[in-house]
Amino acid sequence: MGRTPRRFRGLERGATLPAVTLPPTESAESSDRPGRRVAVLTSGGDAAGMNMAIRAVVRTAITHDWQPYGVQEGYAGLIAPLEFGHIRPLEARDVGGILGLGGTVLGSARCPEFAQPEVRRRALANLAQLGIDALVVIGGNGSQAGAHALFQDGIAVVGIASTIDNDLEGTDITLGADTAANVACDAVDKLRVTSSSHRRASIVEVMGRDCGYLGLTVGLACGAEAIVIPEAEMSPAEVAERIEDAYRRGKKHATVIVSEGAALDGAALARILEAEHCTRIGFDLRVTVLGHVQRGGTPTIFDRLLGARLGHAAIERSEEHTSELQSPLN
Ligand code: F6P
Repeated sequence: MGRTPRRFRGLERGATLPAVTLPPTESAESSDRPGRRVAVLTSGGDAAGMNMAIRAVVRTAITHDWQPYGVQEGYAGLIAPLEFGHIRPLEARDVGGILGLGGTVLGSARCPEFAQPEVRRRALANLAQLGIDALVVIGGNGSQAGAHALFQDGIAVVGIASTIDNDLEGTDITLGADTAANVACDAVDKLRVTSSSHRRASIVEVMGRDCGYLGLTVGLACGAEAIVIPEAEMSPAEVAERIEDAYRRGKKHATVIVSEGAALDGAALARILEAEHCTRIGFDLRVTVLGHVQRGGTPTIFDRLLGARLGHAAIERSEEHTSELQSPLN
């Protein structure tokens, strides 16, 4: 018997449509595939390449004769009452034309309440009612903690490590980190242009939560005078010394990269430099917080291919009935 595809709606009845929605299913009805039913969701901070991973999960599942389902807005969609329509079957065409888009067409959300067993029971009930016994969770640390809890609750889960922070244990590079690093690198290159015109030093704060990966890679790629990351803090005096050195060597600009997880954020560091080292450093200072722009990039080739490989491997791993929570390529 065919299932009538539903269009996604907002989390609450009558809520306005979210900004990003999947295109309507083109086929009149979803196929009633004989294989397993697998759902895919994206959770936590969005990351470029998630769409490629969704596409690969959906299309690989279909080639295995499984019925894929998309869950809108991460765990929030998974626990919402089924009649709200946040979990729906997907067809190959539903994920057409998304491979070059940043963000996630499924939408994402942070859902801290998912840590509570009674909240997860709503997800288990929804999955059971739809006959879904496998789940692919695309997301970062918090999302994979939720996936692990679901696994312990008895669902076959494969996690795809995806976050711009590149801070997941057991994974060399998370989906989205390469694009974010490229976006940040491009921004720092642009800042260098205007800094040089004005003979200024630029303090650039990058994301990464508690991890210095973005700060380190961007700082090295952009030839920063100083890189301040949580794993290797640098005192304001040492930063001042590096800036002063650049000034004395006749440079027209200096760049300092600060990870958001460092002890002092960009603004605090600038305040100390101006208050205590202003006569030494020569340059005028400006602070730029790159913020969420780092999450909005067009996926690089690296992230597109990684998303495709991980999405494909997630289904292969699900098929093997191995539901350990690790990168499916491991
Ligand atoms: O985990 C990704 C990330 O962008 C971190 O780098 C940052 O600290 C955080 O998410 C920002 O979260 P939000 O989008 O909820 O403001």
